[in-house]
Amino acid sequence: MWSKSSWKEYPIRQQPIYPSQKDLNRVLTKLEKLPPLVFAGEVVKLQNALAKVSRKEAFLLQGGDCAESFGNFSAINIRDMFKILLQMAIVLTFAGGCPVVKVGRIAGQFAKPRSNDFEEINGEKLPSYRGDIINGFDFDKSARIPDPNRMIEAYYQSAATLNLLRGFAKGGLADLREVHRWNLRFLKKNKLHKQYANMSEKISQTLNFMEACGINIQNTPSLKEVDIYTSHEALLLPYEEALTRVDSLSGEIYDCSAHMLWIGERTRSLDEAHVHFLSGVKNPLGIKIGPSVNIEDIIALANTLNPNNEEGRLNIIFRMGAEKIACNLPKIFSKLKNEGLNLIYSIDPMHGNITKVGNYKTREFDKIILEVKNFFEIAMSEGVYAGGVHLEMTGQDVTECMGGSCNVTMQNLNKRYETQCDPRLNADQALELAFLIADLLKRSREC
Ligand code: PEP
Ligand code: CO
Repeated sequence: MWSKSSWKEYPIRQQPIYPSQKDLNRVLTKLEKLPPLVFAGEVVKLQNALAKVSRKEAFLLQGGDCAESFGNFSAINIRDMFKILLQMAIVLTFAGGCPVVKVGRIAGQFAKPRSNDFEEINGEKLPSYRGDIINGFDFDKSARIPDPNRMIEAYYQSAATLNLLRGFAKGGLADLREVHRWNLRFLKKNKLHKQYANMSEKISQTLNFMEACGINIQNTPSLKEVDIYTSHEALLLPYEEALTRVDSLSGEIYDCSAHMLWIGERTRSLDEAHVHFLSGVKNPLGIKIGPSVNIEDIIALANTLNPNNEEGRLNIIFRMGAEKIACNLPKIFSKLKNEGLNLIYSIDPMHGNITKVGNYKTREFDKIILEVKNFFEIAMSEGVYAGGVHLEMTGQDVTECMGGSCNVTMQNLNKRYETQCDPRLNADQALELAFLIADLLKRSREC
């Protein structure tokens, strides 16, 4: 029997231990009374859009910060993330010739699973940072103590972020006539800008032609508005439970902290709390799948999380690493394609490609590209649809991943290394990747 609190009867990983149960309960009682962050109707709309992905009629672009933070919360960061997502989506739509479902890792992506429970610097050992919703980033004993009040701050930051995203999506910034202006300032100097400007010009000409034929932004809202959805890893289950509500229209249960939720690589065991909790909510779900997976586990997870085999419900997000994907994925696809499961297959080329340079955690852009290419090539040769990408990125010109045409090097990683968790693609690298994916998408849709 499932209830929103039945996950407590299952083994669970990656949770904080709060010093005071009383404080935790007080916060959860407050959260339970706060309004839902998303509306069930929007979640249903997302599932319908994702059902198109599973039928090869659309493509999923999911991306954003590894971890949102309280410190980097600003209108400019949200606006630039929105712009880079739109830019990438337009590149994919234009070249791939299919609708793009846009899902941010945003407005709730705060809780982080960690490989080690402790972090050690110069002989001092402290509990690891687990994301701003749980404890503080500073390497300081008191900062690392889990504080339930952080859930309230995360909730309000998510609400404010969503509010601005909705404004941008419906209030004019997404008008296709603004396509030139989505370009971020620092992109202006390089060759990518030219490639983007050429495409924008073609879009403008197409819009002029359509307008002459009577199709314009007044009679066709989709030319000036977009749907943008939110997602995060549903890791901190007390928070997710508090935002889980019964939809009064349908009687269905939704986790109203975001439109889409995913289960991380470290918490996806079949008979543990995270899988159990998410099996009971109606939202579209993702599961991260790393190189150690066995195929039977994916099938069992699909049966547990999507027992009615609904289209658009379940997104399998592979994150194997540039080389490992080449030997692991062909056998996975060749088995899964005969199971009759409605699944979306995406690639996260970030989490299997982390390296360290000095004290910096980084990723090589070439490895990211290689994993994406391998994913598309393997899918094409197995006759499976490569339906989406899942990226860690930002609209800022940070220097966290090495390579790309903006040429971030080992030596200049320290120039703007701002992430509190994993290294993100900067806006240039994200756009460059979008052009590359657009070519692969076009080929994969033709075969
Ligand atoms: C993440 O997406 O930030 C993450 C931790 O991913 P994974 O579970 O795939 O390691
Ligand atoms: Co990450």
